[in-house]
Amino acid sequence: MQGGSVSIHNYAEHSQFGDIIKRMHNGEVSGSNMYYVLAWIAREKGYDDLFDALMKNAAEDSLHGGMYGAMLGKAKAGEEDFWHMVVNFYRLESQAGPQLQEMADKVRAAGEEVLARCIESTIDEESEHARRLEDVFKSRGISWQQYPCRVTEPS
Ligand SMILES: [Fe+2]
Ligand SMILES: [Fe+2]
Repeated sequence: MQGGSVSIHNYAEHSQFGDIIKRMHNGEVSGSNMYYVLAWIAREKGYDDLFDALMKNAAEDSLHGGMYGAMLGKAKAGEEDFWHMVVNFYRLESQAGPQLQEMADKVRAAGEEVLARCIESTIDEESEHARRLEDVFKSRGISWQQYPCRVTEPS
């Protein structure tokens, strides 16, 4: 527990309303994704005001989904386990580039240029996701290498 607030981690385990929490989680997560889907189309259509509104709604609903996910115990809250999960994400993000490029090359070779470009358009941001986490590790003095690897190390 930090900042004087009560943790909601795993709340659902002792609640009478676990099914409601699950429903809310699903609703927020899929609602958020649908907002992003609409945002994508709105941007293609040039509806910039709608795009901005949808993006904000999507991010807020996504975080609401995270709240219910935390209540459902989808992440571990113990210090070591928590950071381990973050480090695992870091590893996946830092390795995503070459794997995505490989996928893009494969679909391009099969003649699907649009899909190849879509996949490629995510690569820079995936690297940025890793870099952002790395900044936090650095400023907190966390050596992420100390956490045992659960995925393939980059060669
Ligand atoms: Fe919401
Ligand atoms: Fe990512």
